[in-house]
Amino acid sequence: MEFSALDRYLEQNRQSHLDELLELLRIASISADPSKSAEMSQAAAWVKSRFVAMGLHSELIDGDGPSLVYAETPKVPGAPTVLVYGHYDVQPCDPLNLWTTPPFEPAIRDGNIYARGATDDKGQMLTHVQSLAAWMATGRKLPLQVKFLIEGEEEKGSEVLSHALPGLKEKLACDVIVISDSSQYAPGQPAITYGLRGIAYFELRVQGPKADLHSGSFGGAVTNPALALARLLTDIKNEDGKIQLEGFYDSVKPLQEAERTMWKGLQFSDEAFAKQLGVSALTGEQGFTTLERRWARPTFDVHGLMGGYQGEGGKTIIPSWAAAKISFRLVPDQDPQTVAKQLQDFVTSHTPPGVTIEVIDLHGGSGVVVDPNSPFMKGAMKAVEEGFGKVPVLIREGGSIPIVADMVKQLGCDVLLLGWGLDDDGAHSPNEKFNLEDYYRGIRASSRLWQHLAS
Ligand code: BES
Ligand code: MN
Ligand code: MN
Repeated sequence: MEFSALDRYLEQNRQSHLDELLELLRIASISADPSKSAEMSQAAAWVKSRFVAMGLHSELIDGDGPSLVYAETPKVPGAPTVLVYGHYDVQPCDPLNLWTTPPFEPAIRDGNIYARGATDDKGQMLTHVQSLAAWMATGRKLPLQVKFLIEGEEEKGSEVLSHALPGLKEKLACDVIVISDSSQYAPGQPAITYGLRGIAYFELRVQGPKADLHSGSFGGAVTNPALALARLLTDIKNEDGKIQLEGFYDSVKPLQEAERTMWKGLQFSDEAFAKQLGVSALTGEQGFTTLERRWARPTFDVHGLMGGYQGEGGKTIIPSWAAAKISFRLVPDQDPQTVAKQLQDFVTSHTPPGVTIEVIDLHGGSGVVVDPNSPFMKGAMKAVEEGFGKVPVLIREGGSIPIVADMVKQLGCDVLLLGWGLDDDGAHSPNEKFNLEDYYRGIRASSRLWQHLAS
């Protein structure tokens, strides 16, 4: 297949492709922040306008939250349908003072675009939009049907989409979902991700005395909610990294030897990794390597702690309450709802006298593993190789895209996770970035994808 006209077009449009990404990055579409609903609408409208500009049928699908943006090309008889999924929402930006340049004023330094959402997921998602636009603009006849579903709530659990999904089965019907919302293995080493972990996210609220108490007058006579919370949290995971909820490991399959061997063949240094993160040691579940711990074993983490005195100096109180945001990362056969029950049972049996503990289920989603030998995988390998100039390696990742397992199940399709980001892109952190050349390589890989998935 001849790609020279397409490549010439991509070369000539580097600046406009960048300008468009910068435009989208200037919109502060933080889905978790209720004060940003105008920005959410603005981002959705922006994405839709890109589809309309390239001549596609596009619409906003409204629900109780940020709109879904949908677009499609005409059906090609006898050829597969690809559904590109991505998200236009981003994570909150705090702590703001750690950003070198403001999160919604994208800046280019050392070949990287710095902005919230640069890699997760505006930059990666846009590669597929730009590549399809290039096909349309150069008048190439698409060998398959392409649909897009770009949502605005991935970072907070995809509520609108999960409610709408059963009613959208026909509209979203496809043979394979393509998602670029993960990473390459390393700089210069592209990857195809064949597994993601699931997640079950909760808030724990410990309620003690009806008001804060003087800790001198009352200390020693009541249960301190913050201390009860701390004890509960450390009881959930033991020192060997094993989660203590009853039945938690029942559906966790042992790692396959072939997989372990394949991962041992990937270049990885614990020392360099620890250095990259700025930690003096790596820790985790006994008996597993760092990659295994991150990609294929469940875990438990605390994301935030609330309660008690947070101001300057000291204040001697027994706080009336304390709370924590926590989550479990799950492997593919674990069910978030089962974990919610297991957590509730654990909390009930570990609540000390004198406090009550409420478990609030915030959101969840199952993990996925994809057959690395599926026919679509072969086309994807070829496209990634042509876009990035190197044969991709197969990896799993520890992050979650909670709606993917649902979509695969309900639509009965395959999924391809083609990550263009890098491990050190700082997703969810200050100074998030996306390498500019990876943006262009991603567009190029995507431009090959439509061809290679069709044949
Ligand atoms: N793009 C990530 C998912 C991801 C992260 C995939 C790292 C592969 C490697 C996505 O936007 C994300 O952050 N998901 C959240 C989901 C949660 C908020 C429900 C996650 O994994 O924490
Ligand atoms: Mn993402
Ligand atoms: Mn994210």
